[in-house]
Amino acid sequence: MTSLEPTQMEQSCMRHEPEPPGEKVPRRKLLGWLVGVINLGVFAAIFTPTLRFIADPMRRKKGSDAWIPVIGDGEIAEGETRSVDYRVNVDDGYMVSPLRYSVFLHRSGGEVFAFSPTCPHLGCNVKFHSQNDRYICPCHGGVFSADGGRISGPPPHGLTKLPAKVENGQIWIQRV
Ligand code: FES
Repeated sequence: MTSLEPTQMEQSCMRHEPEPPGEKVPRRKLLGWLVGVINLGVFAAIFTPTLRFIADPMRRKKGSDAWIPVIGDGEIAEGETRSVDYRVNVDDGYMVSPLRYSVFLHRSGGEVFAFSPTCPHLGCNVKFHSQNDRYICPCHGGVFSADGGRISGPPPHGLTKLPAKVENGQIWIQRV
């Protein structure tokens, strides 16, 4: 016998043992299925929460149509324009954080108008100059009228108007 020939013990291990008679599903097949089911369970347990975590922000609705109370109705006079700060809890998909925003409110003819302070040119914050009743952008000199319309400068259009209403003694706006 050369050293390459299997020993008697190795031969007995390699020999295929017949399944015991009377078994409908062979034991090895059953074991294979069991291992498969366990692997599938482990795979699902690991990847399902990961996939849900990644997909969650995509399932959430963008923006909000909620009305936000910003100041009392009596806090802005006819013809007045003022900048008002307010806080909103923003849900970015993973956590909720309170963020501070500002809005310009203008009352004219008894109605309240709200304007975003973000310049439509490159996004600087405009300032209201009450002495000439104009919004002026400090970055490139964009000029807007008291009703938000574009007067001059590089901005392509007027300030963004936000929905506003007076209800229950409060001025409410919507972020768009
Ligand atoms: S960012 Fe306002 S004029 Fe350019």
